Amino acid sequence: MTGASMDGKRAVVTGGSRGIGRAIAEALAAAGAHVVVSSRSAEACAAVARAIGGDAVACDVANLGQVDALFERVADLGGCDVFVSAAGLASSAPAAQVPASELRRMMDLHFVGATRGAQCAAAQMRARGGGAVLFVTSVWGLGGQPSTLAYGAAKAALAHAVKVLAVEWARDGIRVNGLAPGFVDTDMTAGLPGPLRDKLLSRVPLRRAARPEEMAGPALFLCSDAASYVTGHVLVADGGERAR
Ligand SMILES: NC(=O)c1ccc[n+]([C@@H]2O[C@H](COP(=O)([O-])OP(=O)(O)OC[C@H]3O[C@@H](n4cnc5c(N)ncnc54)[C@H](OP(=O)(O)O)[C@@H]3O)[C@@H](O)[C@H]2O)c1
Repeated sequence: MTGASMDGKRAVVTGGSRGIGRAIAEALAAAGAHVVVSSRSAEACAAVARAIGGDAVACDVANLGQVDALFERVADLGGCDVFVSAAGLASSAPAAQVPASELRRMMDLHFVGATRGAQCAAAQMRARGGGAVLFVTSVWGLGGQPSTLAYGAAKAALAHAVKVLAVEWARDGIRVNGLAPGFVDTDMTAGLPGPLRDKLLSRVPLRRAARPEEMAGPALFLCSDAASYVTGHVLVADGGERAR
């Protein structure tokens, strides 16, 4: 019998202090996992860790030395069976105005940092007989939404990493999947001008933004044994937008 129980599993969630990452950390903990909550703010991730009975380790995922240090600490705390990469920042500008520095900043955070985290996590998973990696990507990395050159390209790179890592690491018992949210009400989207928000949501068949908790169910599924034969997949959770 397989299900979404995470009893006995040890998970690491970057971007776990707020929004989608926090909702996923809470769901993993509620399903029985011990969760290491990570973000740049030591206080913010400590507060979430206290609430869910986990641990907190501060880390800027754009800094590879800090990513390595995060996983050294995770090893000391007992190792890692599940890695969720949810850390992220928005970036929006017409393509003609995007400087190379912004392309690099988005790649460093969303792609290079996340894949380094996966490499570190996978080393621990191999020693434990397998595991699951989940990258939070975005529907804006799946199509040509205007003003998403830097952000969308980094998320598209991450969706590519899902496939490559899934194929390479399957022999180690490590599954690698992605979750591509549509419009979710979090700090990231709170600053969008009202007319743009209305325009974006008008394309969503469910006619509303998601709550962060609505990303937790798909994430829990992909991280759990309920998805034991699912790897290399990016699950779109966008209220039906891409069904159009
Ligand atoms: N909201 C949406 O509509 C939406 C849609 C598609 C995809 N996403 C993706 O979902 C993920 C979570 O976004 P969200 O909407 O939940 O945003 P959010 O509420 O702003 O949370 C972002 C999280 O990432 C952390 N973070 C940001 N930069 C970081 C860095 N350099 N190193 C480590 N942690 C960092 C933040 O904590 P600190 O500030 O403490 O570091 C926070 O925990 C992101 O990858 C985002 O791209 C969001």
